[in-house]
Amino acid sequence: MALPFDADSLAAPLGTARMTLRPIEPRDSDDIWEYQRLPEVLRYIPWPVRSREEAHVHTLKRAGMRRLGEDGDAFHFAMSLRGERSLARGEGSEPRDRVVGDIMLRVTSAEHAQLELGWVLHPAFQGRGLAAEATSEVVRFAFESLNPHRLNAHVDVRNTASAALCRRLGMRLEATLVEDVWDEGWQDSAIFGLLRGEWEARGGATAS
Ligand SMILES: CC(C)(COP(=O)(O)OP(=O)(O)OC[C@H]1O[C@@H](n2cnc3c(N)ncnc32)[C@H](O)[C@@H]1OP(=O)(O)O)[C@@H](O)C(=O)NCCC(=O)NCCS
Repeated sequence: MALPFDADSLAAPLGTARMTLRPIEPRDSDDIWEYQRLPEVLRYIPWPVRSREEAHVHTLKRAGMRRLGEDGDAFHFAMSLRGERSLARGEGSEPRDRVVGDIMLRVTSAEHAQLELGWVLHPAFQGRGLAAEATSEVVRFAFESLNPHRLNAHVDVRNTASAALCRRLGMRLEATLVEDVWDEGWQDSAIFGLLRGEWEARGGATAS
């Protein structure tokens, strides 16, 4: 795999028709808190409910994660929506585009060239194809720049929106882990995967 990757080596942000995808920055914390604090967003993400200050500390931490090299390393793209004004407060908050969601890339095995994808999008911006648009671009970036053999996603089987996104990306359901998570009862997890060869066979495009 073409690791290590350092965010500083990104010559330019990634771009889609509607968004700019760039590393999360500390000043994104107000925008990020706007979706991090919503119970429906946290339903299937193992995050606690955070105060605005706690969300700031969490964003600071994620903004500092700029390297993918070893197992467990993660990197987060902010989904900055063009023409939607940021809700950032405080001194020196110049007008700029709003971060409406973020996408994670995590090294699950550097030795075996395996990367995990994760995502979250503010509910007010769901249902418009924005998550599919942004994750497709991150999948392209990952295969072209990081050279993994396989991308994977772990999804609570009750999380039908995420499972639908996996399928939109052309990921296959590979396995269901039975009762591997306790959340108000034992829950199953779905493992989705996408091989480099599968992605290349489609000409580097993700499924619609
Ligand atoms: C998972 C999540 C990112 C999916 O968001 P989403 O907006 O449903 O996903 P998409 O961007 O692919 O949008 C697809 C929907 O937009 C609709 N849509 C509208 N315009 C569209 C367009 N131009 N292109 C594609 N889809 C479009 C699609 O019909 C589809 O709606 P449907 O689900 O009713 O069929 C979102 O539900 C989320 O953030 N969930 C909470 C966090 C979470 O659980 N994260 C995962 C932990 S594993």
